[in-house]
Amino acid sequence: MDFTDKRVLVTGSSRGIGRATAGEFAARGARVAVNGRTADSTRDGVARLGGGERFHAAPGDVSTAAGCRAAVRAAAEALGGLDILVNSAGVGVAAAFAETDEALWDATVDINLKGTFFCCQAALPHLRAAGGAIVNIASDAGLMGETGLSAYCASKGGVVNLTRALALELAPGVRVNCVCPGYVDTDMVRRDGIDKADDPAARERALADYAPLKRIALPAEVARAIAYLASDDAAFVTGAALPLDGGSTSGRS
Ligand SMILES: NC(=O)c1ccc[n+]([C@@H]2O[C@H](COP(=O)([O-])OP(=O)(O)OC[C@H]3O[C@@H](n4cnc5c(N)ncnc54)[C@H](O)[C@@H]3O)[C@@H](O)[C@H]2O)c1
Repeated sequence: MDFTDKRVLVTGSSRGIGRATAGEFAARGARVAVNGRTADSTRDGVARLGGGERFHAAPGDVSTAAGCRAAVRAAAEALGGLDILVNSAGVGVAAAFAETDEALWDATVDINLKGTFFCCQAALPHLRAAGGAIVNIASDAGLMGETGLSAYCASKGGVVNLTRALALELAPGVRVNCVCPGYVDTDMVRRDGIDKADDPAARERALADYAPLKRIALPAEVARAIAYLASDDAAFVTGAALPLDGGSTSGRS
């Protein structure tokens, strides 16, 4: 996969899957706009990626339409347009349905679903001009239900079906796909998610038992799948929701 001189915006790329994705595109020749919620987190993200001429700052809080437009504007100005948009910004907080309050619902849906929607909308003129591609990060929780994650499941199910709707509406000029990772080894899992277990051995067992392939994913594995969907190798792929979950959504064994 060659992305020489392609112009890529990755939202939520100050850390985690987004950062790995920004690095993957840059390693394959792209120039990449790095996005974090604030100017400081974005600057840190650019610095951690190595700075230089490949990475540019495009701060913006994607939980608002205005924040999405600010991020896209900064990216397009820095790069001279956009060929690829990756929507990676997201939050996932475990909470029982009965204890999920309006603030948690709003934060989850606004960042994960509304942010994806309005970043796609803001980027559309650039992507149309370039004949570009969008890759959204949904989740296995967008393909199946998970206990204690009702707001997250609702947001990610929305991202999967938004991807399909946009694939139809933006064809043939712009392709739109999503990846649906199971657990990935990032802060979201290690710090904010099932890393609540006190016993490290029990936690590692829970992570290993999560998928038939007996491990969780690495951010770089998700980044490579995103790069594939954005690449010319996937020129006939649109509307796809690609599971990257070690088999966790395949069924019961
Ligand atoms: N880690 C997993 O197990 C997993 C599994 C499936 C899907 N995902 C999805 O992958 C994506 C990336 O998750 P991650 O694991 O890298 O998480 P992470 O917590 O490591 O990183 C999330 C990124 O999103 C950014 N972000 C959060 N709110 C934002 C906002 N309002 N505006 C701009 N940026 C914002 C953060 O600054 C950070 O860079 C998310 O959409 C997540 O739902 C993660």
